[in-house]
Amino acid sequence: MDLKALIRDIPDFPKPGIIFRDITTLLRDRAGFRYTVETFESKFRDANLIPDYVIGIESRGFLFGPTLAYQFNAGFVPVRKPGKLPAAVHKIEYDLEYGTDQLEIHQDALPKDSKVVIVDDLIATGGTAKATADLLDQIGCELLGFGFVIELKGLEGRKKLPDVPMITLVEY
Ligand code: PRP
Ligand code: ADE
Repeated sequence: MDLKALIRDIPDFPKPGIIFRDITTLLRDRAGFRYTVETFESKFRDANLIPDYVIGIESRGFLFGPTLAYQFNAGFVPVRKPGKLPAAVHKIEYDLEYGTDQLEIHQDALPKDSKVVIVDDLIATGGTAKATADLLDQIGCELLGFGFVIELKGLEGRKKLPDVPMITLVEY
């Protein structure tokens, strides 16, 4: 299936010079959404990445992370923007393609040594995914790999990440 045909390009959003890759048009397409989830799962299985927990990054990681967790009969753990999680958190600051932000995870979200994968809709500079991996380090779990629906290859985000497999479905 041609997933690129279902992803909408919006020039100059949210800032001039950025081409925003909009996955809402993919999600609303029944066949495209099903294909995305099932292909994601099979690529993870082919790479022998079988998680106990899927970690999803707010907010678009919440669209794909729980569906992948469901496929694996795994738990889902959210990594959230600051001030949203109610219990004690680990926190980290990171750079975006267009600004800076912070992420938090509950300190007690995962049993130590859990096998986890990190899922998001897109990797650009890799700052968000690297920050999430660093948060998981603070907890002490085993990061099996990353999954992104979209990779913006030109930004070389992959180089920022720890040396574990990275699954992607569409490249720009
Ligand atoms: C987007 C995207 C990734 C991140 C990728 O999220 O969903 O999480 O940017 O960029 P990076 O690889 O350069 O770090 P954004 O921070 O825009 O938040 P949103 O999902 O809430 O829209
Ligand atoms: N997050 C960071 N860069 C992005 C882009 N170009 N499109 C959609 N989400 C993004």
